[in-house]
Amino acid sequence: MDKGFFHPPSPNIPVDRVDGKAKVTGTATYAAEYKAKNILYGFLVGSTIAKGKIKSIDIQAAQTSPGVLAVLTYLNAPKIPGYQTGKDPAKPPTTGQPLRIFYNEEIFYYDQPIAFVIADTYERVRHAATLVKAQYEKQDHRTNLEENLDNAKIPTGSWFEDYKRGEPDAYKNASIKLEREYEQPIEVHSPMELGSIIAEWEGEEKVTVFTKTQGVQATQRSISDAFKLPLENVTVHAEYVGGAFGMALRTWPYEIAAVMGAKKTGRPIKLVLSREQMFTNVGSRPATIQKIGIGATQDGKLTGLTHEAYGHTSSYEQFTEATVNISKFLYACPNVTTRYRLVPLDFCTPIWMRGPGEATGCFALESAMDELAHELGLDPIEFRLRNHADTDPQRNIPWSSKFLKDCYELGSERIGWNQRKNQPGVNREGEWLVGYGMGTGSFGAFRSNATVRARFQQDGSLLLQCSVNDMGPGTATMMTKVASDVMGFPANRIKVQMGSTGLPPGPTQGGSATTSTVGSAVHEVCLELKQKIAAFASKEGSPFHTVNRHRVTAEELVFSEGQVSLASDPKIKVSYSDLFKLNGVTDLELTKESKAGGPNAQKYSMYSFSVHFVKLKVHPPTGRIQVTRVVSCADAGTIVNHKTAESQMSGGAVGGIGMALMEELVIDNRFGRPINNNFADYHVPVHADIPNIEVVFVNKKDPYTNPMGSKGLGEIALVGMAPAIANAVFNATGKRIRQLPITPDKLM
Ligand code: MOS
Repeated sequence: MDKGFFHPPSPNIPVDRVDGKAKVTGTATYAAEYKAKNILYGFLVGSTIAKGKIKSIDIQAAQTSPGVLAVLTYLNAPKIPGYQTGKDPAKPPTTGQPLRIFYNEEIFYYDQPIAFVIADTYERVRHAATLVKAQYEKQDHRTNLEENLDNAKIPTGSWFEDYKRGEPDAYKNASIKLEREYEQPIEVHSPMELGSIIAEWEGEEKVTVFTKTQGVQATQRSISDAFKLPLENVTVHAEYVGGAFGMALRTWPYEIAAVMGAKKTGRPIKLVLSREQMFTNVGSRPATIQKIGIGATQDGKLTGLTHEAYGHTSSYEQFTEATVNISKFLYACPNVTTRYRLVPLDFCTPIWMRGPGEATGCFALESAMDELAHELGLDPIEFRLRNHADTDPQRNIPWSSKFLKDCYELGSERIGWNQRKNQPGVNREGEWLVGYGMGTGSFGAFRSNATVRARFQQDGSLLLQCSVNDMGPGTATMMTKVASDVMGFPANRIKVQMGSTGLPPGPTQGGSATTSTVGSAVHEVCLELKQKIAAFASKEGSPFHTVNRHRVTAEELVFSEGQVSLASDPKIKVSYSDLFKLNGVTDLELTKESKAGGPNAQKYSMYSFSVHFVKLKVHPPTGRIQVTRVVSCADAGTIVNHKTAESQMSGGAVGGIGMALMEELVIDNRFGRPINNNFADYHVPVHADIPNIEVVFVNKKDPYTNPMGSKGLGEIALVGMAPAIANAVFNATGKRIRQLPITPDKLM
């Protein structure tokens, strides 16, 4: 077998993060850091009940507090024109805003904004916000998933209907079978950058916002819908985003509040959520309860798999994710049944969080696979290999590429899987028990539409423009690398402009699709640019023309800093400025739209795959877990830029470790509110929790996904990590923990 690529060293030179210096020196401008003249500060006051109605609200003290310009509530807030359109109250009034902020007295969740205080300084607005008092008419709230399973509904949408392949619930007839239940609590995204927006109107008809979003065009559409403005009258900037992990995939009510407040006061408003508000007002990974029924023959062939999942949504909106979908295609099992149900609870609507659905689904499936492998007395990798799906069993078509077996082999070699003992609880290092575990992950390899403009300038620099955002993985760096590879052109002469409306349309950053989507457009426009330069170079009067007496092709040319030369004879060369002059232009600009899908998407099933390997130690007297090694392997097609790709994998691994061991929004169901909505009590991994993460890429090109042959990386970096850890904990201790997070109390 091809041993694939180990990092480092790299077969090609990776590009350093192009925005790295701006980020570490603080010159990168995040949403809240833009300057506006005459700026005001806003702060939201939240409901103290989880469900009911506002009976009365007293804003007198806040209004007369020093520096306060306005206190908006449902009683006095300007009407949002887009809120009035929906005839059916159950239907979202606008695409972006099913929860109508300051619309009426109804309370749907704890900390739902009930007032928006606007003042001349941040300190004054924080103080005034404490003076708003409300009386409520409380209603019974529902915040406990387990206790409300009776209210479960099948989500609307054909994608979420019950699925059946072969015999329903066939696992029940298997010679070896298991029925297990797995739970995972609400997790919150916890990006470093808080939800932030600056909104500024120009007259009554035009608004500009600097906001935290993963998609400036989606935000533009939401604001234009809500305020009934022509799309082009809404300008959205999000040049830098300080992490998001899915929480900025939609426009939230707080953003609408800021736009509303700026309109009302006629001055720019800055609104930054508090960390506490980040736990209550911008979604979460939904809590899930999953049931797996799984059966196999004595020799380890799966015969039946049933995967049922309950996830929570809000009372006013349906939120779905692909929790059970993984079970439809990951293994070659002839009989698969899945059922997915939603339970409305009194929380803010959940939102996609890294590996949305698959991260949760894989925790259940990959834990159950480990449990069954143990029952069968099989090595967990061997068990998976015996059930490897050579073609997509769900769609009955070939994979575009699948190097999952390479991941198993490369990763097990790297971590030293042969040191693992199949019998749990016997591998000791002093007082500690040692365990090894692995978990498989997968996520669709998606690609959507993107347009990129490339401007080759006289000074020999190349400017790439696209509205796409970068929430952190390094989109501009990826674009630079693709352009540099296609052009054979120095990366340091390439500039990227992105993250705002008005640039050529790009996608929302989500679903691990940015490299495939935007990278394709960069690839295509740069190819055409090369052709165009070759045509320029073929013009009479150019040194190439003189030598060749015919057209030179792009392949014969070497594009280097400031000049282009002939590959076969570097002495034949011309500067870009002379070349442009000869052709009567000052620069060369091309725009190209790259389209999603195409025939390949119908003929082939496109997925990325990952396998995470973990070695950890458990200290039985205290229940403490120390993860000592992580090896994360990815089949994500061609790795476009190893340096940023490796960071992406490490970040996902950290998120997965948090999911497995720490993260849980603890709800006090008596009051329907979280009790750990702060970083002192809601634990995310810190450096001391994380070993050196080793990343292994198969790095084999996918022939069908896109011109680079890449597949997505962002989600598979996390998907499969939680079960890898749960499985390693079992291997170390013999204790099977089916309820995340695996905190010390569960092991004592
Ligand atoms: Mo990702 S959960 O698609 O931001």
